[in-house]
Amino acid sequence: MNTQLAKIKKAVAFINKQTKNFTPDLALITGSGLGNSIPKLDKQIVVQYAKIPGFLRSTVPGHSGNLLFGIYKGRKIVVMQGRFHYYEGHPMKDLAISIRTLFLLGVKKLVVSAAVGSLDPKLTPGSICVLNDHINFMANNPLINNYDPVFGPRFFDLSKVYTKSLREITLAACKKVNIKAKEGTYFAVTGPNFETPAEIRAFKTLGATVVGMSVVPEVLVAAQCGLEVLGLACVTNLASGIAKEKLSHAQTIAETKKIEGKFRKLLEIILPKL
Ligand code: HPA
Repeated sequence: MNTQLAKIKKAVAFINKQTKNFTPDLALITGSGLGNSIPKLDKQIVVQYAKIPGFLRSTVPGHSGNLLFGIYKGRKIVVMQGRFHYYEGHPMKDLAISIRTLFLLGVKKLVVSAAVGSLDPKLTPGSICVLNDHINFMANNPLINNYDPVFGPRFFDLSKVYTKSLREITLAACKKVNIKAKEGTYFAVTGPNFETPAEIRAFKTLGATVVGMSVVPEVLVAAQCGLEVLGLACVTNLASGIAKEKLSHAQTIAETKKIEGKFRKLLEIILPKL
């Protein structure tokens, strides 16, 4: 048996014991500073990452490490409050563990939110880029040497990885809560540094709308498992060389704090509909 499958089965068994076999059909991953914008869940059960056997640990400020299970307007949901990044030193392959765990718990749809820098001057801080595609510039992939048919086929299509109907629901809801939103392409880098202006100019010619240090590993694993995916990129800054100010993680967190309220309202509208 593939060693990751054995590990994930243990994590799933532990979680099922804690939640008495709660089976969420939708999962939400909250990005930097967005962990507080989760709508209040009924019958909430908290499972700390640190207690789950084989699960990774979050090390970044702004990312707490909990799985929240609960019901929102009749919908059974799990929230990953805090995510894992390649730049933290986790082997790329290990970034598959949490998503594959969600899949074995019963999740069918995944909403991924993340803080990003924007290459589009019209997508200013506080806007959302609803992802319609991505470019993997991390020069790595969590699925390498990590194949198990339980988690889907080795070779799989990515031409429609961000589900159109979920994007449409989200764009309409953004209008309702007065969030500026536009579809675009996520450009994934490893970090942990922010980019140079020359890199941003290069990424723009390659087709990037926003740039960030997460999302893509999770989305690749989810797509292989056959999950429908919605990507919500919350713009915290204009990208390097376009922004006037110096970029910092403190600024990322400060900007997400500003959008927190509106982002919660957005989630309140879309979570029951997705
Ligand atoms: N670049 C990469 N990741 C980010 C940025 C950025 O400008 N802002 C927030 N996350």
